[in-house]
Amino acid sequence: MRIDILTLFPNMMSMFFDESILSRAQKKGIVDVHFHNLHDYSLSRYGSVDDYPYGGAAGMVMAVEPLANCIEKLQSERTYDDIIYTAPDGQQFSQPMANELSLKQNLIILCGHYKGVDERLREHFITREISIGDYVLTGGELAAAVICDAVIRLLPGVIGDEQSALADSFQDGLLAPPEYTRPADFRGWRVPDILLCGDHAKIEQWRYDQAMERTRQRRPDLLDKLDNAEKKTARPKNK
Ligand code: ADE
Repeated sequence: MRIDILTLFPNMMSMFFDESILSRAQKKGIVDVHFHNLHDYSLSRYGSVDDYPYGGAAGMVMAVEPLANCIEKLQSERTYDDIIYTAPDGQQFSQPMANELSLKQNLIILCGHYKGVDERLREHFITREISIGDYVLTGGELAAAVICDAVIRLLPGVIGDEQSALADSFQDGLLAPPEYTRPADFRGWRVPDILLCGDHAKIEQWRYDQAMERTRQRRPDLLDKLDNAEKKTARPKNK
């Protein structure tokens, strides 16, 4: 997978990708992330890419031409599956969306700033607008980092244990069950006996029951979304 990130702050962005799992994924050649400094596409000698909004409202708007030039340059080099714009009025990011994006070959992510971008860019270039939540960030960089993290960790070979990405919260519409590791007894706080019993079918059932209970308590809205068919697939196979 290749991801091209269009940003006013390439240094801030590269910080996220130079550490840990995301950096290993790049070294292994599983994902190729490129940063493009939008100032390099400025039409002014000061490097600015924003301008005053028509109609006299407060704030600045990212201009259409420099952004269009950057996107078109990339499009002349390869075909992109999606051109994503990060904005608070986009579609809410979710695990199914991360799953879907993880199947793509080439993505562009445009990080919004100021009051946003000229609407013509959204109409003529952007294929998908994503928000990471109902709050306003100073820019789309953090949103782009969140999206990339959620997508890249799903790519085959990125996480050592392939099973663990599938067992994440939200992958089957439920929150993940509690996890424990050694010691089995810490200050008298014991790991549930069932996890030590060695019976995998029983353990799977326990995990499923815990996931259901946790979801019921913390995110009942997720259970509402699961129709009966989905509830069936969420049940452990060996039950
Ligand atoms: N840019 C500013 N706020 C944002 C948000 N909540 N999601 C995505 N991009 C943003």
